[in-house]
Amino acid sequence: MSYIVKCFECGRKVTDGLLDSCPKCGGLLTVEMDLSPLVRKELKDLRKEPLGVWRYAPFLPVDRRKAVSLLEGGTPLYHCKGLGKKLGMKDLRVKYEGANPTGSFKDRGMTVGVSRAVELGCKVVGCASTGNTSASLAAYAAKAGLGCVVLLPSGKVALGKLAQAMFYGAKVITIDGNFDEALDIVRQLAKEGELYLLNSINPFRPEGQKTVVFEILDQLDLHVPDLIVLPVGNAANIWAVYKGLTEFRDLGWIDKMPRLVGVQASGSNPIFKAFQEGKRDFKPVEHPETVATAIRIGNPASGRKALKAIYDTDGVAVEVTDEEILAGQKLLGRTEGVGVEPASAASIAGVMKLRQSGEIAADERVVCICTGNLLKDPDTIIKNSGEILKSKATMEAVKRLMAQ
Ligand SMILES: Cc1ncc(COP(=O)(O)O)c(C=O)c1O
Ligand SMILES: [Zn+2]
Repeated sequence: MSYIVKCFECGRKVTDGLLDSCPKCGGLLTVEMDLSPLVRKELKDLRKEPLGVWRYAPFLPVDRRKAVSLLEGGTPLYHCKGLGKKLGMKDLRVKYEGANPTGSFKDRGMTVGVSRAVELGCKVVGCASTGNTSASLAAYAAKAGLGCVVLLPSGKVALGKLAQAMFYGAKVITIDGNFDEALDIVRQLAKEGELYLLNSINPFRPEGQKTVVFEILDQLDLHVPDLIVLPVGNAANIWAVYKGLTEFRDLGWIDKMPRLVGVQASGSNPIFKAFQEGKRDFKPVEHPETVATAIRIGNPASGRKALKAIYDTDGVAVEVTDEEILAGQKLLGRTEGVGVEPASAASIAGVMKLRQSGEIAADERVVCICTGNLLKDPDTIIKNSGEILKSKATMEAVKRLMAQ
């Protein structure tokens, strides 16, 4: 495996492993893998390994033999026939990332990112987070025996995620500000050498995250879906998916690209707004707000990468309200038995909206990436579910309630 790290904006090669941005123009970094060892290979050559992130080791910029792994990836791709029927769709699939070791897609990026931290000899890792990144980083840092610091927006992190970060032994610091402010602080701490930054601006994180689309293509035997739909917060994941697709395409393993659909909450929608105006850059939203706290981000660090991913695939950015998100979450649960957190349900809500407007045709094959597990955010579910029935401890009393 060989690769270079270069600037996404100006193309400059960057060799200092501790930098998170270009020393010349300040642009984000990206990894360019040398795929030549794979040129004469086919996907089936990788299938000796179990489905999961490390099946795709030749596409990853760390040594798999030294990888810090919790056996991430290998998540189900559900064929949602019931929900598809309800929405008037022939072929709707859900890639259920809630089945990862810490319950979200972040584990794909963290196995690679924390492996990189170990390779560099770093002793302390850190991140800003809306919750899932901190949960994942805390677990992988524990596995690797590294110190871990996470900065969270006070009062705006779902309970399950907070519990995870605390449980795995991270130093949990909540700030009286939002995610964007937390990220500014942690970037500064990294610059001063206090920690190794493992937010998704670290170019090794999207390298792991791109494996979600490798798996989708693998599970579909390389039949490329028409659309892939996913939520957009800090905006690295849609970039990761795009990058993975280009790598399979460049090898000739697929011959077309799916359209990428980025879904944002209407209270945190800078990418949607930029897309509406046909722009490749975005204006930050100052006070982002949404029930989908995982994507409550006004100034997405990888926003420019996300817009490239959308434009280059002839994709779409769409916004959905909190009500639409909660309706999508409930519908998925009650028609398919699949439980996802609100941010993940944004992708379902996005499909519902695009199907209604006719942007998605009835016979198109659509894959929704549902990024996190239902149990991450029990408060939101309880608040938006019906009442619990209370009964005396007798069979008659229970029967009366059953009959109501
Ligand atoms: C469950 C969930 N979905 C989606 C996202 C958005 O991913 P990204 O920030 O890469 O756009 C996040 C980010 O925290 C998340 O936790
Ligand atoms: Zn640059």
